[in-house]
Amino acid sequence: MSAQTKARRVTAPDIRARKGGEPIVSLTAYDAPMARLLDPHCDMLLVGDSVGMVVHGLDSTIGVTLDMMIMHGRAVMRGARRALVAVDMPFGSYEQSPQQAFENASRIMSETGCQAIKIESGTYAADTIAFMAERSIPVVGHIGLRPQAALADGGFKAKGRNEAERQKVIEEAIATDQAGAFAIVVEGVAEDLAREITEAVSAPTIGIGASAACDGQILVTQDMLGVFEWTPKFVKRYDNQAERTDAAVRQYAEDVRARSFPSGNEVYALKREG
Ligand code: KIV
Repeated sequence: MSAQTKARRVTAPDIRARKGGEPIVSLTAYDAPMARLLDPHCDMLLVGDSVGMVVHGLDSTIGVTLDMMIMHGRAVMRGARRALVAVDMPFGSYEQSPQQAFENASRIMSETGCQAIKIESGTYAADTIAFMAERSIPVVGHIGLRPQAALADGGFKAKGRNEAERQKVIEEAIATDQAGAFAIVVEGVAEDLAREITEAVSAPTIGIGASAACDGQILVTQDMLGVFEWTPKFVKRYDNQAERTDAAVRQYAEDVRARSFPSGNEVYALKREG
């Protein structure tokens, strides 16, 4: 088999078939080089609207636009060969009507080449998910803590702290599932609620801050790599990139100040003619 052979891309039915099976490995990606590094290890890469906070320095995901998501989606598609790539629909691009959602989702899919879209799915979104799924758009739902609702909720708050809230999250999960989402991101709920949701729905659940009771996990890549000083408590840090980058750049600055770096003379001399 030649190195040129195209990898078989993970599909929405492949992810759906993982219900109750081997856990789904998922991370966020926003650019081509990182997507290339994550791709061999992940089943699904999400171009999350968290890009607004992680890459663009926004305070929330509210300011993220469709054009930003398309630009980052295209970059990730250039880096990822095997993993399913899902692109988040940003705030304001799908809530108005199923038609609005379909129009913007089809634009994301045709302009990026991604395999799926994700929407934050309160019970109100069931019609929208069904409308898109019936028209061949693979949809990932997102329930529990919904970052696009943070302003209305008064912050990024875990869900299911009382019985009424638990019931609401379970309703969101069932509505999202019955509407035809092929996977459901469950964010910010305790383990017993994550287990109840996972048992109640036919689609695999992918947890973030939702315990190992889900059918898989997704994290923000920069959180698990330790790019930021602060990370949510549920994130296991696998690296400390902030410290390592600081040390590397400190050394670079010292080298430049000491004029201690390769001149490149030999390389250019070889190329010089005559
Ligand atoms: O935008 C995002 O990165 C997400 C994940 C954290 C699930 O929605």
